[in-house]
Amino acid sequence: GIDEKVEALLQKMTLDEKIGQLNQYTGDWEATGPVTNSGNKLEDVKQGKIGSMLNVKGAKHTRALQEAAMQSRLKIPLLFGLDVIHGYRVTFPIPLAEAASWDLEAIEKSARIAGTEAAASGIHWTFAPMVDIARDPRWGRVMEGAGEDTYLGSLIAKARVKGFQGKGLGNLDAVMACAKHFAAYGAAIGGRDYNSVDMGLRTLWEVYLPPFKAAVDAGAATFMNSFNDINGIPATGNSYIQRDILKGKWGFKGFVVSDWGSIGEMIQHGYVKDNYEAAEVAINAGSDMDMESRSYINNLAKLVKEGKVKEEVINDAVRRILVKKFELGLFDDPYRFSNEQREKKTLNTPEFLEAARDVARKSIVLLKNEKQVLPLSKDLKSVALIGPLVKAEKDMQGFWSIDWGKEDHLVSLYEGMQNQAGKARLLYAKGCEISDTSKAGFAEAVSTAQQADVVVMAMGEKYDMSGEAKSRANIHLPGNQEELIKAIQATGKPVVVLLMAGRPLVFNWTADNVPAIVYTWWLGSQAGNAIADVLYGNYNPSGKLPMTFPRSEGQIPIYYNYFNTGRPAKDDNDLNYRSGYIDMQKSPRYAFGYGLSYTTFEYGNLKLSDTNISGNKPVTVSFTLKNTGNVAGEEVAQLYLQDMVARPVRPVKELKDFKKVMLKPGESTTITFTIDKEKLSFYNENLEWITQPGEFKIMIGSSSDAVKLDGSFTLVD
Ligand code: IFM
Repeated sequence: GIDEKVEALLQKMTLDEKIGQLNQYTGDWEATGPVTNSGNKLEDVKQGKIGSMLNVKGAKHTRALQEAAMQSRLKIPLLFGLDVIHGYRVTFPIPLAEAASWDLEAIEKSARIAGTEAAASGIHWTFAPMVDIARDPRWGRVMEGAGEDTYLGSLIAKARVKGFQGKGLGNLDAVMACAKHFAAYGAAIGGRDYNSVDMGLRTLWEVYLPPFKAAVDAGAATFMNSFNDINGIPATGNSYIQRDILKGKWGFKGFVVSDWGSIGEMIQHGYVKDNYEAAEVAINAGSDMDMESRSYINNLAKLVKEGKVKEEVINDAVRRILVKKFELGLFDDPYRFSNEQREKKTLNTPEFLEAARDVARKSIVLLKNEKQVLPLSKDLKSVALIGPLVKAEKDMQGFWSIDWGKEDHLVSLYEGMQNQAGKARLLYAKGCEISDTSKAGFAEAVSTAQQADVVVMAMGEKYDMSGEAKSRANIHLPGNQEELIKAIQATGKPVVVLLMAGRPLVFNWTADNVPAIVYTWWLGSQAGNAIADVLYGNYNPSGKLPMTFPRSEGQIPIYYNYFNTGRPAKDDNDLNYRSGYIDMQKSPRYAFGYGLSYTTFEYGNLKLSDTNISGNKPVTVSFTLKNTGNVAGEEVAQLYLQDMVARPVRPVKELKDFKKVMLKPGESTTITFTIDKEKLSFYNENLEWITQPGEFKIMIGSSSDAVKLDGSFTLVD
């Protein structure tokens, strides 16, 4: 078996060769060749001083570097890692957008395709999925996760891990997944990237850790730790997080890679005085591989000699890495993923592009549709396309797109509309830049709008306004964009505003005044086609927000599953010594779970199998859902529960199940949710996973703030 092979190899390795396995360097982002800017890295590979490289891609380049590794004494193959976050060559919607689909199958498929393409291009390992729960839209990396909810986030974590790893490591279309960033990176204070996290352990366990646990249970091969400190201890040097929880309690058998330079950054944190101490703390705390800080390669041998790090600790880390290399089949054939013919055949296929279009339209959220502006009639004579993102196909790829749109055919909104507009004349004016404050283009945009039957405006963020190190204190529409919307709305023409962004934005004037608003996020290669599908009603939007949209940055953090206070406000106007703001509503602009359709749904006939839960017998809740409109459509019916009295207190509601169903006009179906004890459990102050007897409220609806049916039951014991 693999374990024996790993042991036999370990026996042959010198301490330096072992430490080499724990060392990861970057190639070049452009990957124009394996040795560009890295002459000594090539030498290091040949001497067995590097176990893995990131940012080297393509069958040709990975093969060339692997050939160098085969010149090392023990011929241990390299692992090639890359941030394949939302697609490899075919770009899929950003992960936050995909989360809005609430479609686990589509999400898994997206990761499956990304994994298949990457694996055909010499990649063994993606640094995804990011499973950080995030309740702060200022944080630029919200784009990379599944939003604010633990239940939804855990299911998506599982879907993505399964997607990347396919039928398992060793298959030629499977890459290793990497659950990141362990842990609590999404709770950086103030939404500022890399910042500290100050968090009670109950919240850590209940809100932030479950998606990571789901990733372990789904078989994630690797984990990446995080840049932040958690209550004063950097995650990279955090033994509680990595050893006690991950490798201890959860029994994780894979390996942990540091984030870029995060071992060395413990010096800046003020946690260690130099790289020598950093290496000691990190390896002892369970960080197995050092990404780019060179702390391990430069210090571990001395640390072992001086007795500060036991060789067994190094052996454990090396074993974990070698096991994965064996599982991937790299010892049988180190070049098995580096086949140029397969690469050519696999990338960018029409089937993958079609899948990207499908998940892209499923990710779109219809926020507002008054006066039936949408869907657009096929009989329109002219449509004005206005805004800085109409022809910005690269921006619609979003942050973390592998090729940044250089090599592939990307469908802009303009092109997507051209493909479906039929006889309608398309007029175009940019109107303004994404971030400029100039109004020079306004007049032309207004006169263009005046010539059209309908105006579609493409507004939002540039691709690099959300992402790593892209936190924003002001999350309004950038530049003069909302001013341009006002000017166009003043023409009296029917206006549709499309919002393309990597995070929830603030756009109050638009929300109050424009009749139709569609949140498209950044949708990837097929963005233009997918948006046109929705605008023309060839696809009925079904997305639901995976994050709460605030009215103002001043409300952040804002999320749906908060605790009640002793003085809850009845509504936004209830300000008499109640918990709220005197200058702003307390409610969000758009709630978690919200999203409209071109049809309407009616919820009715709630039935409970029992009003008591006792022992291990679950309660089932069923209800009917009917499409009461004129077109077919999908609804995401959501189940929320509230534990009415508990110690410690429980949230006002928590998502516990959902179902996405397609119904024809007039069609109805019965949906059943099963509520077992697990769904009623929570962590008490001693971090024990418990239930407490008492009353639970059931809320079923189309969003967290649109409860259509309610009931209750009692947990007896
Ligand atoms: O994988 C990423 C991580 O999420 C942030 N820092 C850099 C890593 C490698 O690119």
